Amino acid sequence: MIHISNLEKVYDNVPGRIPAIQQINLDIERGEIFGIIGHSGAGKSTLLRCVNMLERPTSGTITIDGEDMIALDSRQLQVKRRKIGMIFQHFNLLSSATVADNIAFPLKLAGMSKAAIRSRIEELLELVGLTDHARKYPNQLSGGQKQRVGIARALANHPDILLCDEATSALDPQTTSSILSLLLDINKKLGITILLITHEMQVIRAICDRVAVMEGGHVVETGKVLDVFLKPQHAVTKDFVGQVSDLNTDAKAGEQSAAPEASVSPRGTRVRITYIGSKTYEPILFQTVKTTNVSFAILQGTISSMKDVPYGQLVVELTGGDAQEIQTVITKLKQEGIDVEVLSS
Ligand SMILES: Nc1ncnc2c1ncn2[C@@H]1O[C@H](COP(=O)(O)OP(=O)(O)OP(=O)(O)O)[C@@H](O)[C@H]1O
Ligand SMILES: [Mg+2]
Repeated sequence: MIHISNLEKVYDNVPGRIPAIQQINLDIERGEIFGIIGHSGAGKSTLLRCVNMLERPTSGTITIDGEDMIALDSRQLQVKRRKIGMIFQHFNLLSSATVADNIAFPLKLAGMSKAAIRSRIEELLELVGLTDHARKYPNQLSGGQKQRVGIARALANHPDILLCDEATSALDPQTTSSILSLLLDINKKLGITILLITHEMQVIRAICDRVAVMEGGHVVETGKVLDVFLKPQHAVTKDFVGQVSDLNTDAKAGEQSAAPEASVSPRGTRVRITYIGSKTYEPILFQTVKTTNVSFAILQGTISSMKDVPYGQLVVELTGGDAQEIQTVITKLKQEGIDVEVLSS
């Protein structure tokens, strides 16, 4: 749906010319929630703002539904932007307008009649759970409520795409979680494609389908959230995954934090086993070893879920049997579709 190719943005309004984003290639599919994570200054906002042409790229292309965004004139862009909602970290509400008037703003710009605006505001307030707050001003609302107004305003003209720039970064964890649930709900109910940027892996893990990791203006890693989470490749990604880690992100960490007695006297083969989906709840490990002389000790383990996919990761030590038998167990586990990584043997 959104196709980004060789995108580059150089800010030349400052001494030294800043290449804010370079060689960005991304394809975002209709209906998905795509996250972009990166440290401050990585180029996330620049990339997001290029999608709706709030920033003009220096080179490269962006097409949305096959339409070349860079080629649009200002009138065409205005029309196209109505179908791309945007929400911000600091909400960007008009402080002198009520909740209802803030939401009405884009509807008036689109030339809607007063009666139609009234009924659309009611629908939107209900969608974001603010029906009783229509006449309040922004300074009479909590941060979470302000963001709900931001979301209602962004959805006013039935957009196909919602861009979220650090939409939960100013909120406490509980409010963050309620706003993320609302975004997920909107994505499911309305089928809106969501492109969100954040510096928090929790946000990615809670609602995104795929993620791109940015550093120094480049995308350094991209993939399905579960894959990136369970097998991060780039150092920056490992760092982000570490933020929320109930998991170890490399073999060494697996060894070091395993049970002390096991690292003192390694007796067997230590492996990390990763289950994804319904396999998480099946007794595959037990069933695989029970017909052999191999037994296992669990040194470390996690069972959790990402978006709605359950996953489990265990560090276990396989003992008993001979090397051949242990290898057979590992092969059988792999045949069951389980990821097995040998940490030490
Ligand atoms: N309007 C601008 N003019 C000049 N340089 C800019 C402008 N906007 C951003 N930059 C520079 O471009 C680089 C990327 O900035 P950007 O705002 O995209 O980062 P970010 O990943 O969104 O960071 P943060 O997490 O702090 O919001 C930075 O070096 C920044 O200083
Ligand atoms: Mg930013």
